[in-house]
Amino acid sequence: MGLRLRNPLVVASSTLTGSVKKVVACEKAGAGAVVLKSLFEEQILQETDRLAAKLDTTAHPEAHDLFKGMGSSYFLDDYLKLVEDVKKRVQIPIIASVNCVSPGSWTSYARRLEGVGADALELNVFLLPSDPLVSAREIEKSYLDIVRRVRKSVAIPVAVKLGPHFTGLAAMTEELRKAGANGITLFNRFYRPEIDIEAVKVVPAKLFSSDKEMPFSLQWIALLSSAVAVDFAANTGIHDSTGVIKQLLAGAKVAELCTTLFENGIDYLQTILSELSSWMDRHAFASPSDFTGLLSKGRSANPELFERGHYIRSLVGVN
Ligand SMILES: Cc1cc2nc3c(=O)[nH]c(=O)nc-3n(C[C@H](O)[C@H](O)[C@H](O)COP(=O)(O)O)c2cc1C
Repeated sequence: MGLRLRNPLVVASSTLTGSVKKVVACEKAGAGAVVLKSLFEEQILQETDRLAAKLDTTAHPEAHDLFKGMGSSYFLDDYLKLVEDVKKRVQIPIIASVNCVSPGSWTSYARRLEGVGADALELNVFLLPSDPLVSAREIEKSYLDIVRRVRKSVAIPVAVKLGPHFTGLAAMTEELRKAGANGITLFNRFYRPEIDIEAVKVVPAKLFSSDKEMPFSLQWIALLSSAVAVDFAANTGIHDSTGVIKQLLAGAKVAELCTTLFENGIDYLQTILSELSSWMDRHAFASPSDFTGLLSKGRSANPELFERGHYIRSLVGVN
């Protein structure tokens, strides 16, 4: 994406990156870059609706709309100030993150964030493909439309953080590249509701990942990193230095970390960095670029291991 990072560890968008103090702590602990917590348009709309509902606007009905406009800009300004303040305090690249519901907001937020100094954007696009009347192609077009619009509006690098629900993921990433994405983050970990069978009700699921979730993004990074000319960021289930090294070998340029830093504290970045460095010494790699993508499908000595034939052979061999 053209960003210069001192190492490939990126703190993923979350409350770990939601204040100046926390971002300063990320830098101090060794992060190569941070993705700020997302600016959620939906949250802004809900918050302004809630506040506007409390207004007595019987005398001046237009006051309601005026207030909502002011409310939106208040929340947006708050986020812009976070970017501005963070940029004054740290040297590492700051990637702002947006999640919008209306097409126009993606571009207007993107422009404003570029204006206050964000080094790059990560588009946190979340379109749950749950409507039986909306086809895969329609959903893909929405993603591409967002990326094209944002690309036209800003000059800074743009990454797209994707969930795993794509039928033609390889073709989709290539189309996103053509639409102007410089980076792709695989995969976002969406909220998953849980069912409590004793209470017989739907309850919030746990927010944190397990390291057992990592093989999914590892496989896709390995398959796509040598096939699609964008920078891939690996995400979900990367909990330690082993996970980071695997993802880099598969072809990720960076590893985005979240759960492990909540569970072990932000200083765990130092442990991961020092273990990464010892591993590099043991294998005589001077820099991550010496081994990034070494085991991607395109460069691996055994590309058949990524292919369907291997899967079938493995199953046949199991008695
Ligand atoms: C408390 C919390 C807040 C999060 N907030 C955001 C957010 O604002 N934007 C976003 O794109 N992802 C958000 N995420 C998702 C993380 O960035 C990341 O994609 C996910 O946790 C998977 O990475 P992990 O396995 O290292 O936790 C959040 C995750 C957690 C646990």
